Amino acid sequence: MPEAHGGIRPQELMQLGIDPNHIIDFSVNSNPFGPPPGLNDYLLDVDLTHYPDPQCYRLKKILSEAATTSVDCIAIGNGSVELIWACVRAFVSRSDRVLVVTPTFGEYQGALDLLGIQATEYQLDISNPNINVEEINNKINKIKPKLTFICNPNNPTGHVYTQQQVQLIAASCETVGGYLVLDEAYRAFAGLVQFAPNPFQNTIVLRSMTKDFAIPGLRLGYALADKKHIEAITAQCPPWSVSAMAQKAGEFLLVNSSKTERTITKTLELAKQFKRQLSSSGLTPMPSSTHYFLVNVGSATTIRRRLLDSYILVRDCSSFGLPEYIRISTRLPEENAQLCKVLAQM
Ligand SMILES: Cc1ncc(COP(=O)(O)O)c(C=O)c1O
Repeated sequence: MPEAHGGIRPQELMQLGIDPNHIIDFSVNSNPFGPPPGLNDYLLDVDLTHYPDPQCYRLKKILSEAATTSVDCIAIGNGSVELIWACVRAFVSRSDRVLVVTPTFGEYQGALDLLGIQATEYQLDISNPNINVEEINNKINKIKPKLTFICNPNNPTGHVYTQQQVQLIAASCETVGGYLVLDEAYRAFAGLVQFAPNPFQNTIVLRSMTKDFAIPGLRLGYALADKKHIEAITAQCPPWSVSAMAQKAGEFLLVNSSKTERTITKTLELAKQFKRQLSSSGLTPMPSSTHYFLVNVGSATTIRRRLLDSYILVRDCSSFGLPEYIRISTRLPEENAQLCKVLAQM
């Protein structure tokens, strides 16, 4: 079974005799500049002797102002992945159909596996950044899914749906009596406003805070939707799933979000430079509107393994059904240069 996610696996690396602490990780699409300064010190004061607030009220309050929405229209999760799983449990039963626009993040199907549901897939053309919404809508009208998953910007392609395209898909979902789950985990990395409200009625917007703020180890994400949908999602999450540490971090990060906005803008500039450098090294990065992108390397598994010998980790895209592609996320200039150099020598 190909690995379903990027990220460092200490067991694999230690078996290969590679020290995980020395790895440069291009396989996870986090902000390469890390969280804003001051986060670690701020977290020293977290009270670990009491249960965390099961409603995450303080965090929701700050988020409600940032996203100009009501506290009742927000759910907080232990990473947005918890909310993906909760959406499936809240809105789908075994006899329902679900549409997933692929290749995309594997956890939509991962959550559906629990109910024994195999999603119907609409296959995007990975070489064409213009998404064919008419075809997606034809599929929705044909199979009448209870739930449709789209990822915007999409992982792993970095292709973006316009607001109007999302609106058309949400409208089709509504016509057939279904819901749209709009996964915006990488929204800010497509140059879009970070905390925009959710303008759609039958749509659950999911956002991750682990990518923008570079805190995948802390786990934090949120959903924006109608109050009744939020209640249904929250009912599917265990109590206290968001730790006191994660809640407090979220509060700090939201209050200091302008610093992160600046590092995301810088990351997008670096991405353009990085793609040019890779092209000069004889590689062909696929068109992408984000800081991560696909590159055809012939055999992703072989190249990933060989790069590990140089302490470089990339995402083998075999689990996306793309065994010839690796996904690379932009990192800091000297790290990007190092990857170009090693790839050019292969
Ligand atoms: C598209 C997408 N959605 C959601 C997630 C989950 O993110 P989180 O860390 O918030 O659980 C990921 C993680 O890789 C992702 O790629």
